[in-house]
Amino acid sequence: MEVHLSPARGSLDGVVIVPGDKSISHRAVILAAMAEGTAHLSDVLDSADVRSTVEVVRALGAQVEVTRQDAGTFDCSVRGWGHRGPAQPDEALDCGNSGTTARLLMGVVAGWPIEVTFTGDASLSSRPMARVLRPLESMGVASASQPRGRMPVRIIGAADLAAVEYHSPVASAQVKSAVLLAGTRAHGTTSFTEPSPSRDHTERMLPAFGVPVIREAQTCTASISGPVLLRSTDVDVPNDPSSAAFLVGAAVLVPGSGIRLPDVCVNPTRTGFLQVLARMGARLTVIPGPDMGSEVRGTIFAAHSPEMTATTISCDEVPALIDEVPLLAVVATAATGVTRFEGVGELRVKETDRLAAIAEGLACFGAPVRAGEDWLEITGPSALGGCSLTSGGDHRLAMAWAVAALAACGETVIAEFDAVEVSYPGFLADLRALGAGS
Ligand code: S3P
Repeated sequence: MEVHLSPARGSLDGVVIVPGDKSISHRAVILAAMAEGTAHLSDVLDSADVRSTVEVVRALGAQVEVTRQDAGTFDCSVRGWGHRGPAQPDEALDCGNSGTTARLLMGVVAGWPIEVTFTGDASLSSRPMARVLRPLESMGVASASQPRGRMPVRIIGAADLAAVEYHSPVASAQVKSAVLLAGTRAHGTTSFTEPSPSRDHTERMLPAFGVPVIREAQTCTASISGPVLLRSTDVDVPNDPSSAAFLVGAAVLVPGSGIRLPDVCVNPTRTGFLQVLARMGARLTVIPGPDMGSEVRGTIFAAHSPEMTATTISCDEVPALIDEVPLLAVVATAATGVTRFEGVGELRVKETDRLAAIAEGLACFGAPVRAGEDWLEITGPSALGGCSLTSGGDHRLAMAWAVAALAACGETVIAEFDAVEVSYPGFLADLRALGAGS
């Protein structure tokens, strides 16, 4: 699908309830599927990625019944497989475009005597899986994959997994979650140490399912003791900060704007983009909301910010804003000076090579941009000109280009815009509800 977007004609104003958080939705469905009993999940993100997770856990024997469906979210009950373990699926499990589905579920099936093949779309099949297979193999799992650990991946589970102390070369919540979830089946203490803290939703949610997690902030280590059976609990999913980021960016760029986004997950492992925007001079306020469950919630206010200055984003800051780099790069075109992102090589193995795609896309809009193997520089302020470009099938690029289009002169045409189905199907409707024209 191709969309044609005009520059914003007036300000963006109003309140948007962005849909449920994608990372937390995946985890709520997966942990409930592993657990003994029935869990009621509410405000789960209704998007292609989360639907992939629901279909995969169903194929593994969990009973998922959708009890309410609204714009962008659904409620469901999940009866987990608990002590019986996942069923041997008849066919390969299709994870679609979703790295979180594939990587977390590889860890989930690892400790059971079943053989499971994971497949995905062309994008997922080009992404590295060796980072998950390596620790799982050290726990006793056998696997087969395409060259360089690409999908399809076959996991041959082992009922007698060994606990490991794994030191990961990359900060990755997907790998960390796979190892910890496999660790629920291993005998002894399984720990995962990473170079800097990645999102911690699994560590926060496991205790609610009856699995204590020991965390050492200084060494970025999380550990659990197994074997341990998860017990069902209800989960209410807060709204997605990564989706909210695009509306925040649009409000910051479009003159006169002022928007409010309630009940967003403001877990500090996710809100690095708010800190960077505030440092650049963006007009933002976060009002902490009442704590519910294991996550931190708040209301984000964002307003047009005419006087922004460039900043350097250091590699330590990157894990807490990794999915927001495309949006931050668009906002950086309006800031005075050189905005530099350091240590962003992980962007090359996302849904697309996002580092190359950001540089190409911003150049298309006429912005001065330079990229290296693991860095990116944008010089501003720069007047953007409408252009024709593609999302390349990457949801976050589709939305970043739509935000750039609002701030550009002339019409922008974005090909493969339907990639937004992966995380935020109602994105354009929400943008229009705030007053963005056609
Ligand atoms: C995610 C972790 C991050 C993030 C992805 C979602 C998760 O990936 O980029 O969009 O839900 O665990 P990595 O684990 O590869 O860093």
